[in-house]
Amino acid sequence: MHITVIGSGYVGTTIAACFADLGHDVTAIDIDEEIVETLNDGRSPITEPGLENLLEAHAGNRLEATTAYDAVPESDVTFLAIGTPSNDDGSIDLGALEAAAEATGEAVADKDERHLVVIKSTVTPPSIETVLEPAVHRGADENENIGVGMNPEFLREGSAVSDFMHPDKLVFGASSEWGTDRLHAVFEPLLEDHDAHVVETDPQTAAMIKYANNAFLASKISLVNDLGNICKEFDLDAYEVMDAIGIDDRISEQFLRSGVGWGGSCFPKDVNAIIAAAQDEDYEPALLEAAVEVNERQPARMLEFLSKHVDLEGARIAVLGLAFKPKTDDIRNSRAIPVIEELRDQGADVVAYDPVAIEPMRDRFPEIEYTTTAAEALDGSDGAAVVTDWDEFATLDEEFDSMAEPVVVDGRRIVQRQDGITYEGITW
Ligand code: UDX
Repeated sequence: MHITVIGSGYVGTTIAACFADLGHDVTAIDIDEEIVETLNDGRSPITEPGLENLLEAHAGNRLEATTAYDAVPESDVTFLAIGTPSNDDGSIDLGALEAAAEATGEAVADKDERHLVVIKSTVTPPSIETVLEPAVHRGADENENIGVGMNPEFLREGSAVSDFMHPDKLVFGASSEWGTDRLHAVFEPLLEDHDAHVVETDPQTAAMIKYANNAFLASKISLVNDLGNICKEFDLDAYEVMDAIGIDDRISEQFLRSGVGWGGSCFPKDVNAIIAAAQDEDYEPALLEAAVEVNERQPARMLEFLSKHVDLEGARIAVLGLAFKPKTDDIRNSRAIPVIEELRDQGADVVAYDPVAIEPMRDRFPEIEYTTTAAEALDGSDGAAVVTDWDEFATLDEEFDSMAEPVVVDGRRIVQRQDGITYEGITW
């Protein structure tokens, strides 16, 4: 098959490279010439394990990048993987995606064969009917050969390529049988070797499945954090409690790690977007709002434990871990941001360390000190707040000896407790 992918961000680049690896001819389209050039050179514009290998293998043969929409009418399917940034009220800004949907429609307006335009971006169910389908059909001049589908992604940063190649489920949202068949044809090479559940549904339900998935996981962590906070008050080990409840198949052992909360580009954005979309219909989703509130409270709670042992005013505090999770340099909605803000508000001098995410955080907080090792950050500090569960923090040992006051508040239960340091977990 020939597939065009509009948008070469995190999702677009990953799926374009993976489709090429499945044996399809892929044209990646982006307005950014630098990204196009990078892709054509077989290099990755983002840090993602395994991605560069795929780009290197397929650029110049099965994968081509361009700024023009010329390849769209020659392809069988177009995937729209355009960002939908958050507005101030949590709702999503569909402007760029709507423009791309219309431009795609225009490109295929004269087509005599069927063409499926698939929304890959995460969008609210009503926006498919009210904004995106109309944009495609308007562009295509109501050409009846053009269909619109929805195929949400469940890729995690840091394992996006492997998640693509080994999905638990594929969700095909289409409003016609041929639309569903075409999505099957796209993923057929993957399904030949891998047994994934295929969910066939309409585009709106497919969009809701994506939000429900992320809202459920984010709320699961917030519930675990709420219960963990109670455990802490009772002086009980939250991890022991969670390990036990995870044995129940109905709960499952995953996503039960309590701590400083969830961040990243998806959970915060998606939970806020579905809350805003529900409010648009005059429905207040009380549990989801509470999930956000618990998540917002955890960083402040972390610092309450720190200030039990250290007067933060004028103190030198080491923040270990800046990325929103390990194995990525992404700091979007990282819990390190509210931790640093709160520390600064309370008059502390922050010295921060992360193995890969210093440069992005330097743009956000140019005024704080950054170090190239955890040991340097700890040296002479009056306390440490551990925000990301990088493996290397599990082996910290004599590095703590050089702290002026060896107080460690661990937001991820990664540091080894040891004699001579005052250790506090957030929920244990
Ligand atoms: C998530 C979804 O998992 C993925 O399916 C979706 O497509 C995009 O959003 P990602 O944002 O890459 O993926 O990260 P994920 O590994 O899910 O972690 C999200 C956040 O939750 C991180 O900040 C992580 O530290 C936190 N988390 C995760 C916990 O606090 N506890 C846990 O038990 C699990």
